[in-house]
Amino acid sequence: MKIGIDSIAFSTSKYFLKLETLALHRREDYEKYYVGIGQKQMSIFPPNEDIVTIAVDAAQKATASTPDKNDIDMLIFATESSFDLSKSAGIYVHNFLQLREDCRVFDLKQACYSATAALQLAKSYVRENPRSKVLVVASDIVKYLPNTPGEPTQGGAAVAMVVGENPRVLTLEPYSGIHTTDVMDFWRPIYKSEALFDSKLSVYNYLKSLNTTLERYLTLSRLNTSDLDCICYHAPFCKMARKANQQTLRNKFLENSLIYGSLIGNSCSASVYICLLSLLDNTPESLSQKRVGFFSYGSGSVAEFFSGIISEGYREALSPENSRRLIEDRMEVPFDEYESFSDGINMLPSSKYQNIGAVTLARIENDKRIYRSISSLS
Ligand code: CAA
Repeated sequence: MKIGIDSIAFSTSKYFLKLETLALHRREDYEKYYVGIGQKQMSIFPPNEDIVTIAVDAAQKATASTPDKNDIDMLIFATESSFDLSKSAGIYVHNFLQLREDCRVFDLKQACYSATAALQLAKSYVRENPRSKVLVVASDIVKYLPNTPGEPTQGGAAVAMVVGENPRVLTLEPYSGIHTTDVMDFWRPIYKSEALFDSKLSVYNYLKSLNTTLERYLTLSRLNTSDLDCICYHAPFCKMARKANQQTLRNKFLENSLIYGSLIGNSCSASVYICLLSLLDNTPESLSQKRVGFFSYGSGSVAEFFSGIISEGYREALSPENSRRLIEDRMEVPFDEYESFSDGINMLPSSKYQNIGAVTLARIENDKRIYRSISSLS
């Protein structure tokens, strides 16, 4: 039975900051950001946009071509930037998508790795329940403290994937190389909005985990690296993926997979799947039947190397024009406005800013987040 990604779409913010602007205000050489880190822009999020609003937008796009939304009986929301330690962010998505009531909904967390855990869980679930479809949503907004080395690697996006039988985009293969090790390279205590990190340790552990998981994957699958046509890497910043690729030397399509990430910034759990979309949308030659390797890394740390085969006719399940427009239509924000975005929804009038999709965070009242359909506001 072939199981995998039947449809995939992403969303991000309507606003971005140029890294040139950040470099100017932080008195850094722009070349460090552009060449040294490999980033050009980062999506930044006004107070009326959060991991739920962009997740709803991505999920509405990904399910638009699902013939019957009632086939979706499980929704897994992967995030490390949740605002609630109890209620699942997925429940809001379930509500706005009007999915069936007997649909299992839950969040998964393990830094940037959790969407891969969700995808593998979805695959097992569909194997047991071949008529079911699972909606996997990965949504993260990455924030570091100002004036830290992490600041130019902020960003955010949501990816939604419908997982089912006979997938139109990619069939998941059975083998995975997995590596878990206790390391303090990146973490966010529950009382902080910004993540903390050890730069050098995080880069070292990422590359070490890539070695270990790729070796395990090759041993289990009895494949050689030459059997991989390309690799999508978790890309917290594009230079990280380029470093990874120097280690594996297996990716003539690498730059195509990094186009969206270089403009959006880090999107944590969504990042490796943004790379997949960028690869599929921006590679003119056909990728049908090509084997794509995936390296998923979540600090802390859990890493997994796995693979999939691109479906015949995959282009019919994609909307590259819409994806490109989503990025191109974003509005540039001046530096002082970027700084003011961290003031929060109750300080800034949400009506001042546009949302990317059809849902807005209207306000926070008695510690409850109140979301509204934008059409219901007008
Ligand atoms: N012109 C061109 N290049 C320059 C330059 C200039 N003027 N100045 C510096 N550079 C180069 C450096 O030589 C270096 O290149 P190499 O890596 O090839 O040596 C690069 O720019 C970065 O310079 P530094 O090492 O001095 O950078 P830094 O200390 O500011 O840290 C960072 C950079 C690691 C990306 C930092 O942004 C960071 O810590 N980010 C958050 C943590 C992170 O993303 N870690 C990645 C692995 S963990 C993970 O993947 C999970 C996750 O999503 C967070």
